Amino acid sequence: MKCALTFVCITAMFLPVKLTAETGHDAWLRYAYINDTVAREGYADLPAVVVGFANSPVIVSAREELIRGFRGMLGRTLRAASTLPNEPAIVLATISDLRAALPGAPRIAPLAEDGFQIIRTGRELIVTGTNDRGVLYGVFALLRAIELQWSESELNIREEPYAPVRWVNEWDNLDGTIERGYGGRSIFFENDNVRADLGPVRDYARLLASLGINGCAINNVNANPRVVSAEFLPQLARIAEIFRAWGIRLAVSVDFSSPQRIGGLDTFDPLDSRVATWWKTKVGEIYRAVPDLGGFVVKADSEGRLGPSAYKRTHADAANVIARALAPHHGLIFYRGFVYDHHMDWRNLKNDRARAAYDNFIKLDGTFADNVLVQIKHGPIDFQVREPASPLFGALEKTNEAIELQITQEYFGQARQVVFLIPMWKEALDFDLHAHGAGTPVKALAAGKTFNRPSGGFVGVSNVGLDANWFGNDMSQANLYGFGRLAWNPNLTSEQIIDEWTRLTFSQGPEVVKTINSVQLSSWRTFENYTGPLGLQTLTDIVGNHFGVAVEASERNGWGQWHRADEQGVGMDRTVATGTGYIGQYRPPVAKMYESLTECPDELLLFMHHVPYTHVLHSGKTVIQQIYDAHYDGAAAAARYVKEWESLNGRVDEPRYLAILAHLQYQAGAAELWRDAVNTWFLRTSGIPDRTGRAGSFPGRHEAEAMKLTGYSVVDVKPWEAASGSKAASCTAPPCAARMRYDGTAGWYDLYVRYFDQNDGVSRYRLLVGSQLIDEWTAADRFPTRRIDSSSSTRRIAAGVALRPGDEIRIEGVPDGPETAALDYIEIHQATK
Ligand code: GCU
Repeated sequence: MKCALTFVCITAMFLPVKLTAETGHDAWLRYAYINDTVAREGYADLPAVVVGFANSPVIVSAREELIRGFRGMLGRTLRAASTLPNEPAIVLATISDLRAALPGAPRIAPLAEDGFQIIRTGRELIVTGTNDRGVLYGVFALLRAIELQWSESELNIREEPYAPVRWVNEWDNLDGTIERGYGGRSIFFENDNVRADLGPVRDYARLLASLGINGCAINNVNANPRVVSAEFLPQLARIAEIFRAWGIRLAVSVDFSSPQRIGGLDTFDPLDSRVATWWKTKVGEIYRAVPDLGGFVVKADSEGRLGPSAYKRTHADAANVIARALAPHHGLIFYRGFVYDHHMDWRNLKNDRARAAYDNFIKLDGTFADNVLVQIKHGPIDFQVREPASPLFGALEKTNEAIELQITQEYFGQARQVVFLIPMWKEALDFDLHAHGAGTPVKALAAGKTFNRPSGGFVGVSNVGLDANWFGNDMSQANLYGFGRLAWNPNLTSEQIIDEWTRLTFSQGPEVVKTINSVQLSSWRTFENYTGPLGLQTLTDIVGNHFGVAVEASERNGWGQWHRADEQGVGMDRTVATGTGYIGQYRPPVAKMYESLTECPDELLLFMHHVPYTHVLHSGKTVIQQIYDAHYDGAAAAARYVKEWESLNGRVDEPRYLAILAHLQYQAGAAELWRDAVNTWFLRTSGIPDRTGRAGSFPGRHEAEAMKLTGYSVVDVKPWEAASGSKAASCTAPPCAARMRYDGTAGWYDLYVRYFDQNDGVSRYRLLVGSQLIDEWTAADRFPTRRIDSSSSTRRIAAGVALRPGDEIRIEGVPDGPETAALDYIEIHQATK
């Protein structure tokens, strides 16, 4: 620290930093005041005036953003001017405007579309770009650098996006619900119309722009055709206008059968000329309302959506009829590769959903119009906890692609759990598919670089909602941030991304940065460990809410996410030699690795092979032992996150501190539930004991069904592994109580009460020791089920309770409506504090 030890300096060093309560709404664009005097003074020489050449809405946004950022971080309000003043200025101009306005400005080497350059000359600070968007992105980069306290000389930044397409998709329904959205209701729609108040849309557009995202499809891929009906178009135009100021092109998902459903035709056959005319006319009408529409997203012939198969036409026929209508307007069509049969015969061991995308699209390579992109999920199934990269990326040589990554945590704890997805995406993006010899990673293929395609890029399924923090969990924002950063530059590392995010979103404090970064960076592995190790995929309720644990839910149904676990072994045989042949969809070097039991990486073993439980992994452990151990490791890591987070008490503003603490506490309990359910299931199925003796043994646990019950009746829980002992106590004849006598040694204990919080009532619970009330709570959390099962199962910990032999422990439950104050068990553990 350069400052001499004056009074002012000493006070500045030791004054506690005031933590303002935050809602999380500004996410990483908080522009928190830079408390470090030295760092702040490093920017003292920056000009005091900002000049925006051109009055376009994007340049105005850029200028206003700069003013906002400087005011927040440096406590200075820049003067806004429209012509060069007689003093140094921050100049915002496209490259062509710059030449005219500032003839002496340095020459800018050619930049890709949306690229920018920041130049500190002796006098000016120039932010320039190929287009207005580039200038805006330059401003965001400059503000980010200042918040991260880069030195003034480091502000010379030059960047170009890796790919032209950097879009998000929102799965919002016109009625205001969001499919697989966990952050509240839609920011776009309510009651089948666009919302009157579009303030949150403006705020969201700003967040997207700060990452370089340039397109957003606002409605569910399971599209309501009304979205392009004549009366809806003026409403869409309102959203487009807001997006436009942030350089974002509006897009919509359209229903492929629209010509019939809203067009009055008796067909939607893509080869029927009336259908082609209908799309042409409709697209023209839309562009009159939204002249810069980005295009359409289409989900056809998938999960019950109508598609070209109704007329025995191909996906190319379907995509091209719409593409031809969009082409004159420079619109794109994102045709989803997520096409599979969800009525597959599970008894046929050769059937395999993972094959579907490749099998459906490979034969069409070269037949799609140039403004079609096939939008491919990163793995061959559906956003599971671990999947290999989809072979389709490496197979299409004459077709544009976009990679679809899911930001919303559908299979990842749905905003109730912390899972940082960037390391997972990085693995997919960096995976070399050997599509054109070695060195063709997925990112290059998706961006269109490998085969010189005219378009390509990244699509993230975001699904933000009206919750102040957008996702229902502040930590989930890191996934949107990371998606945007990767779409701009997939060569960034997970470590760089999380470090930026934590500093921008929380603080520069070393403990805060270290703790949050380490929780986030380890969280995918942790989650994988307790939900689906070794490539099992997520062992969740696959035909339902995708939240709780249900090991067999994916078996014996047509949806095709089978793991084929039985008494003998586990895993899908996808080999060419004996299995479904999926592995043959990869190019030979990759196929060879996956086909070989010895070369296949452990983490994908059960995705590729069916093996006996005693198969020995590269690690030297057997498969069954690894399943047991992974679950204990995962649950232990989730428990550690709570402790680590608690060390930040007072270092993170209180509302966010408490909200995240509650999520992490839930997650620690959920990890334990998954651990016990999955391990008990495999123990029972395989009959092979855990060599450490942990699986199936629950020290300190007292099942509710074994307690003395009043008013409570014992019910079977389905699936059986969803509750300890497969049973719960459900209050059917209130007043209800469950009692037990404590017979252990005297001491301090933590009491874990596992209970069920369904979403159709708010039950109340009281925990008593003898006649003393120890704790009371309500079951008012947001879980996606009305049933007593693993999705509603949660726990309460009463910490530091004094117990003596002979004490009566009693839980009283008061049901509410259909919710029955149900109980699973109490566990008594030595107190940890
Ligand atoms: C998943 C998801 C659905 C969604 C589908 C899709 O299956 O659960 O809600 O519609 O993906 O991507 O089309």
